[in-house]
Parts: sequence; structure tokens; C-alpha cells
Amino acid sequence: MEEKSFFIKTFGCQMNIRDSEIMAQKLGEHGYIEGLSIEDASVVILNTCSVRAKAEQKVFSLLGSLRKAKKRNPRMKICVAGCVAQQEGRNILERMPHVDLVIGTQAIYDLPFLLENMPGKTAINLSDSYEIPRYIPRLNSQEPGNAVSGNDTAVFSRFVTIMQGCNNFCTYCVVPYTRGREVSRSVFDILDEVKTLVDSGVREIVLLGQNVNSYGKSNPVTSGGLPYSFARLLHDVSAIDGLKRLRFTTSNPKDLSDELIACFATIKNLCPQFHLPVQSGSDTILKRMNRKYTIQTYLDKVDRLIAVRPEMALTTDMIIGFPGETEQDFKHTMGLLDRVRFHGSFSFKYSDRPGTMAAALDDKVDEQVKSERLQLFQKRQDEISLARNTEYIGRTLSVLLESVQPEVARGRTTTNHIVHVELKGVARPGHFIKAEIYHAGQHSLKGTQVL
Ligand code: SAH
Ligand code: SF4
Ligand code: F3S
Repeated sequence: MEEKSFFIKTFGCQMNIRDSEIMAQKLGEHGYIEGLSIEDASVVILNTCSVRAKAEQKVFSLLGSLRKAKKRNPRMKICVAGCVAQQEGRNILERMPHVDLVIGTQAIYDLPFLLENMPGKTAINLSDSYEIPRYIPRLNSQEPGNAVSGNDTAVFSRFVTIMQGCNNFCTYCVVPYTRGREVSRSVFDILDEVKTLVDSGVREIVLLGQNVNSYGKSNPVTSGGLPYSFARLLHDVSAIDGLKRLRFTTSNPKDLSDELIACFATIKNLCPQFHLPVQSGSDTILKRMNRKYTIQTYLDKVDRLIAVRPEMALTTDMIIGFPGETEQDFKHTMGLLDRVRFHGSFSFKYSDRPGTMAAALDDKVDEQVKSERLQLFQKRQDEISLARNTEYIGRTLSVLLESVQPEVARGRTTTNHIVHVELKGVARPGHFIKAEIYHAGQHSLKGTQVL
């Protein structure tokens, strides 16, 4: 085992993936080497998610099993970071005495310092006001395409965090408690980070925030403190020389502005793909969720997005069995599926989260009913995804290659569909090739390279 080595296990959303990269970078700057497994590491970090009960259970069961690993290797330090750390704080130290350090979601930048200077078992939680510190992605090679991720493989698509936190308090959601209030990064820092990545060979950038449409609303993001919007950020980022594809996630439909919709008409490298979580097809349920939009306003926005970019691929999130959801409400959810025909969706059974308003509601839906509805929903979505994918057969699409084997490569289209491509010529990861689609599955496409 190296004197100073680390292993990070990441749960949850893209923001956690990006936070893990930042922790890896910070540890690297302080002389830590990334280990290949938990057994190899002097520091084990679990970057956790608490959005649903199941996500949290996974963390505690892994923590339980780390007790043995630490017995074998008493020098191992165990650190819990991320949303469960923020939510549970010191309780984790009490429940799992073999844990050494618990750090809230804003403390990731101080991880190396805390590891070296903590007085004993320590828990650091969220503060009320903070700034996202400046950090520049680590690049250890000038070779194009060698922008380095946590595990040192060449990647051509990278996440860049533009804002964190959420002020919306949807009644089921723990995120405002685990990530705190909305804070936007400075425009200068974001552009600087994107430029550094693109100069090192990155082709695609995904801008991240819990609610990207609120970018620039809660705190000044320019040096002069002038008003600045998410749409403006998209324009400025998209103009960076060499950036081929730009995406973003996530947006609450209530904040989807006309200015943002217009971006899809004017910004050529903004990909025709939109993840727009609707959560329910019933206005009654949306109201109880505190989502602040109706199905009619949601559909208006969907129609306008498709009007400006007809090839737009829409995806969504859906919560099944929110407290009080009736058969009729669920029918509306199924009806919405057929109306929008989402290219894909992530659907979850409603799960009580501590401290949220919905957890206190008393008309909970029976577990069995939730499971049945989820199954019906997912079956219909699978049929629609397959039908949607079938629409691509016969079309020639641009594919950014992620991995290349001798005769077959894997990559993504602008609409974020995975394509397995039979190669006809030389191709490398990071190359754009054209592929004629000949087969559609539920989750991916197959095509032949067109030279
Ligand atoms: N900011 C995004 C959502 C982030 S959370 C938005 O506003 O749409 C990711 C997804 O987890 C949510 O879209 C929701 O579908 C799901 N989710 C959040 N809390 C949940 C809960 N208590 N039970 C079940 N699913 C939940
Ligand atoms: Fe959660 Fe709602 Fe904020 Fe999304 S907008 S992170 S669902 S509170
Ligand atoms: Fe999970 Fe936290 Fe992301 S709760 S979904 S890791 S913001």
C-alpha cells in the first residue's frame, strides 16, 4: 500500500461525479496517488447520495462492510462526503464508529487539509453562505484528448459545475437541505475552466447545476455585478474556440425561459437534447409537489422547444406514487407519456425523505400499488423509447466516439443516443464520424460508418 493513496466510490448524480473529480484533483495536488481498490487505499472516500431511501441504504451497507477492511488495515481512514454526509453529519460517526471524517457538500475543497489536520473524529457541515472556490482542472499531458479524469483515461466529454444548491423546495426533495441555497460560480471561472478543457482536447461540455435556469439570479456572477442569465452563459461558452458540443442539466420546467428556448435556434453547437423533469402528469399532484407549473404550461414549453429544433430529443424524470396519487392522477401520467413521447425517462417510486414536507403527509400510496404503477409506466416508456429509436433507422448521424475496438466503436449522437458503429476506416476515440443507422434497440442504436 502506498503511504498516501486514495479510493473514491461515487453514488448519485452528475454533480457528485464532478465533485469526486475535484476531490481526486485536490488529493493529487497534495501527493496522494489514486489506488485501484479499497484494499489499496490509505484513504477511502464515499461520495454519497440521499435523494431516495435506497440510495442512502446502499451507503450504509457499504460503510458496514468497510468495518472489516479497516480491521485488516487499521491505518485506513474512512471519509463520508456528499449528500448523506451533509444530511446526517455527526450521526454517521455515532452509527459507524470506524468512520474518521464526515464532510458536507461544500467542504470537498478542504479535504486534503482536513485529512492531515483533523483533531480526531470530525464532522464538517454546510455553512449558510459560501462561494464556490476557484479551481482549474488538472491536466497532466498536452497530448490532445488526454484531459484527465479521476482514473486517467482520455475523456472527450466533461462536466463543468456552474451553480449549486436549490431554492425551490419541491415537497419531496432533500436536495435543498443537502446542497444548501443556490450559489452560482463566476462567469470568468466557468469560461476559464471550459477553455482549459477544450484546449486539452475535450470536445463536449455538460454544464451542471441543480437548477441551471436560475444561474446568475442569487448572487453576482460578473466582476461588475451586472445582470447575467443562463442563456447568456450558453452563448459565451458556446463561442469558445474548438468546443463542438454543449449540453446542460438539470432544469426545472417552471424556470425554462423564452430566452433559453431561443438558444436552441441560434447556438449551433448546443445539442438538440433536453432533460426536462416533469415528475407527474397530474396538476393536482404537481401542486402538492410545489412544482409551480401545470401540465398545460409544461406542454407549451415542450412544443416550443420542438418548434425551434425539430430533432430535439426530450427526456424526463417521473415520481410514481406521490402521497395522494389516485388512479386518475396516474392515468394522467400515462397520458402525458403518450402525448410527449419522451425519448427516455428515469422513473422512481416516491420515497420519504427526512425533513421534507411530503414525508409528513398522511395519504401515502401503498407500496404494492406504487410497484404496479411503476411497472406499467416503465413498460409503456420502453415501448415508446423503442419506437422513438426506430425513427432513426436509415438516417446518417454524427457520432462522437468514446471507445474504439478493432472493428466496432461506441459513441454518442448530438441527441445523446448511444450508437455501436461498424467501422469502415480508421477511427480513434474523440473523432467525429458519420454513421448510417440500421438497427434500433430500447437503449441504443447500431450503425455503419459512412466514409
Ligand atoms: N433538480 C431536478 C431534480 C434533481 S433530483 C429537478 O428539479 O427536476 C433527481 C430526481 O430524483 C428528481 O427529478 C426526482 O424524479 C427524483 N426524486 C427526488 N426526490 C425523490 C423522492 N423523495 N422520491 C422519489 N424520487 C425522488
Ligand atoms: Fe429538488 Fe425541486 Fe430543487 Fe429539483 S428543483 S433539486 S426537485 S427541490
Ligand atoms: Fe443525490 Fe445529492 Fe445529487 S442527493 S442526486 S447526490 S445532489
